[in-house]
Amino acid sequence: MAEPIRVVVTGAAGQIAYSLLYMIARGEVFGKEQPLVLHLLDIPPMMGVLEGVVMELADCALPLLRQVIPTADPAVAFKDVAAAFLVGAMPRKEGMERKDLLSANVKIFKAQGQAIDQHARKDIKVLVVGNPANTNALVCSHYAPSIPRENFTAMTRLDQNRATAQIAAKLGVPISAVKNVVIWGNHSSTQFPDPSNGIVEINGSTKRVWDAVNDAAFLQGNFVETVQKRGAAVIAARKMSSAMSAAKAACDHMHDWWHGTTSGQFVSMGVLSDGSYGAPKDVVFSFPVEISNGKWKIVQGLQLDDFAKSKLAVTGKELEEEKGEAMAVCSAD
Ligand code: NAI
Repeated sequence: MAEPIRVVVTGAAGQIAYSLLYMIARGEVFGKEQPLVLHLLDIPPMMGVLEGVVMELADCALPLLRQVIPTADPAVAFKDVAAAFLVGAMPRKEGMERKDLLSANVKIFKAQGQAIDQHARKDIKVLVVGNPANTNALVCSHYAPSIPRENFTAMTRLDQNRATAQIAAKLGVPISAVKNVVIWGNHSSTQFPDPSNGIVEINGSTKRVWDAVNDAAFLQGNFVETVQKRGAAVIAARKMSSAMSAAKAACDHMHDWWHGTTSGQFVSMGVLSDGSYGAPKDVVFSFPVEISNGKWKIVQGLQLDDFAKSKLAVTGKELEEEKGEAMAVCSAD
């Protein structure tokens, strides 16, 4: 068996982590042959709760889990870690806009960026889940200058999974039949869920999602809105934000980054923008990417119609505004 790798989950006493830790420790992300040392970071008042999570992880009797290190000290949490799931943040409550969260949360990601810079492996892969995820990833990378900028990504895979599920339900096909429905832009209500490059297997033949659904009004209207507002719908129903589905998406994201995507498969990731498709440069923008050897590459050559271009412009503008606000908060801190 391989040597254990160290993996950190922040917000480890929270509700996403409660699902996520089990999936990671079972080998769903790094593989069934990869032993793990899990580092669990939360804030000092949560150490009692975290102790309960540690007990439960022990009681799961998971063969891959070699050691669990609960801590409130970022220096301990990030020491020599190969992969980080940055989940810990103040969660959005019912009726709260994402912008309200920005100033509180970017400070957390500044401090964690500095800790990653000092203590983590230089090839660490960082997935930011805590909101505002795209801008938090940008801030984190900014304060970790010794780590390549492409090693910081933000999660839009939950949005992609939601979009794929909506299309599969509409067509009455299994989820695995639908591919390449992607998310552009910010993980917020301005994101653009785009089915126009999606494909679906129906009765043994491959069709474009656009042709199989054959309802442009739905694909540009109700479908887009349902995906954009799904997080708020879950909060309204559950009185808590999406947790099980967020944990699953975090596993999907890191799994594909670690192991690669299959040929012709696109996955959505918030990554540092190089200006592809007219997106603003130097913000963390969700693009369709393909991954091999642990490196993501933005899929090039997709066609965007005027509708799509207008949606990308809106979400790109929001990301530029968030970046401005975040950097102002960080430099005043
Ligand atoms: P939660 O409130 O249950 O857990 C958050 C945990 O983070 C708490 O235990 C808290 O003590 C901890 N925390 C706060 N500050 C911390 C710090 N400085 N260092 C370490 N831990 C810290 O929240 P939940 O439901 O687990 O959500 C976590 C985050 O994920 C929220 O920001 C939420 O909005 C976001 N989210 C993102 C999604 C995405 O698709 N990108 C989807 C769903 C949620």
